[in-house]
Amino acid sequence: MEQQLSQKEKMFLEELKSQEDICIQKYNNYASQTTCPQLKQIFQNHAQTEQHHFDSLTQILSGQVPNIQQSSGNKSNFQQPDQWEMKKSASDNQQPADKKKNEYLCHDALSVEKYVSGTYDTAIFEFRDPNIRQVLNHIQSEEQQHGEELFNYMHSNGMYPVQ
Ligand SMILES: [Fe+2]
Repeated sequence: MEQQLSQKEKMFLEELKSQEDICIQKYNNYASQTTCPQLKQIFQNHAQTEQHHFDSLTQILSGQVPNIQQSSGNKSNFQQPDQWEMKKSASDNQQPADKKKNEYLCHDALSVEKYVSGTYDTAIFEFRDPNIRQVLNHIQSEEQQHGEELFNYMHSNGMYPVQ
């Protein structure tokens, strides 16, 4: 990195770090709360990726630009919708109260992903270093991927009706 980070750039990085920190805590917490094994796996994978994001932001704040390939935690864990369809029967056996709870956890996690993705979008426009922009863009795409996985789980379990 050729330039020192500006105050504005640092402010955005600190803000993103605090949001990632909340995501890590939330996903770990939700992984321990859910009764559905597939959803537990999703939450655990997301917690790991959010930790990578947190570490990448810390690295940028310390003056280094992380390697995007290394920050990409869970590409191989990404579950396509057809995989969910095959597993659908397992979560169809959920008790109504459990399903309601899982639905709440998913909706809440999805809201946070939408919010965090928006913060990355706002932040990216303020950075001078194109390499940092690229890292932030990559992280943002992983937040969208998290949203997609949650959407797919919800949709295939009748928690996200599409009209
Ligand atoms: Fe993240």
